[in-house]
Amino acid sequence: MDISVVGTGYVGLVSGVCLADKGHRVICVDLDEAKVAQINAGQSPIHEDGLDALLQANIGSRLTATTDLADAVSKSTLTIIAVGTPFDGSAIDTSYIEAAAKAIGTLLRDKESFHTVVVKSTVVPSTTDEVVLPILEQASGKRAGHDFGVSMNPEFLREGSAIGDFMEPDRIVYGGTDEQTFTVLNELYSVFANVDKIRTTNKTAEMIKYTANSLLATLISFSNEMGNLCAGLGGIDVVDVMKGVHLDKRLSPVLENGERVVPAITTFIEAGCGFGGSCFPKDVKALISHGQKAGHEMNILQSVIDLNHAQPLQLLSLLGKHFDSLQGLKIAVLGLAFKPGTDDMRESPAIPIVRALHKEGAEISAYDPVATDEARKEFPDVPIQYAASMSAAVQGADAIVLITTWDEFASLPDIINNMEPAPLLIDGRRMIDKNSVPRYEGIGLSLS
Ligand code: UDX
Repeated sequence: MDISVVGTGYVGLVSGVCLADKGHRVICVDLDEAKVAQINAGQSPIHEDGLDALLQANIGSRLTATTDLADAVSKSTLTIIAVGTPFDGSAIDTSYIEAAAKAIGTLLRDKESFHTVVVKSTVVPSTTDEVVLPILEQASGKRAGHDFGVSMNPEFLREGSAIGDFMEPDRIVYGGTDEQTFTVLNELYSVFANVDKIRTTNKTAEMIKYTANSLLATLISFSNEMGNLCAGLGGIDVVDVMKGVHLDKRLSPVLENGERVVPAITTFIEAGCGFGGSCFPKDVKALISHGQKAGHEMNILQSVIDLNHAQPLQLLSLLGKHFDSLQGLKIAVLGLAFKPGTDDMRESPAIPIVRALHKEGAEISAYDPVATDEARKEFPDVPIQYAASMSAAVQGADAIVLITTWDEFASLPDIINNMEPAPLLIDGRRMIDKNSVPRYEGIGLSLS
């Protein structure tokens, strides 16, 4: 099938490259000439595990990039829109998607054959049918569901495992208003065998994406609330509590052979210092706002956000139990990225933690295996000593604050146990055994 993809950001490029690798002919379109040249040279403008290799395997054969949207639309039967939909605090900004729809619609005016437009960008329910579709109809002078098709097809890609998530998806969801559009989408995804596919309305497809992310974010904030209560009540460790909760067979089923399956979902039912990234915070806030405008209070999701907003500062409270003031103390921050496996710092709990440490007068050293450059951009105004290794970062520290679960931090006890005096470890992720170091504090626990 001949496909064009508008927007070569994270979602657009991963989708384009993966669909080409699956056998479709794909033209990626972007306004940025430098990006297009880079892609055509076989270099990905974004870093994602495995993307470069897949790009190089397909570029020049089934995959090309261009700035020429007209050429791309004329040569394809389907156009995927994968442009950004940033959240401005009260609503998602659909201006990029509207501009793309207008440009595509104008090109459809002169196109004789049935063309399908697929919205892959995350948009709140109704956007595809009530914003994108009318623009396409107006710009093309044609009728949706008759002369051209409109489908909403959300992505479920995690940063760091986006290629695997695309190639072996949990499910494929696509909406549409007419049979012809579904036939096109069936063909697009026929290259994915043995995957559950949900064909639904565009509005439901939009809602599936938000509901999926909201559920995961809710599990995290729920777990954090339980953890904070354990710490507040004293004498209860949230790690033990969650172990007991996870063993519910509905969460971790026991197979006939007696073996227990531990599904990935249990990792969202653990206490920590909060969620971040480019999706969860933005999507939950956008859904709250969208719900409220429709007259729904969205109390649970508002609490999810409020709790997540406050959660990173729990680590400051734990420091406060040991030090009257942080003025002049040396605090080592381990982990800056919002999760391991990425250098992305968007909405990372490290941001409020570092800012609070600075405000309290601490001397900050920091180590992250890959996010130092991003941190320099995030904190141009904060004097931070960036270390080249975990052991360099913690040397001479009065306290260590662990924020991101990078695998290499597992050896922290070896380093701490060779330090004299041993620094206090504040474990924001309950990653380290509380008995493995002399001075320990963690989320969901009250030791002192
Ligand atoms: C997420 C969704 O997973 C993806 O389906 C959607 O399309 C975009 O948003 P991403 O933001 O890349 O992807 O990260 P993800 O790995 O899901 O992590 C999000 C947050 O959940 C992070 O703050 C992370 O620390 C937390 N998390 C993640 C957990 O608490 N436990 C986990 O097992 C995984």
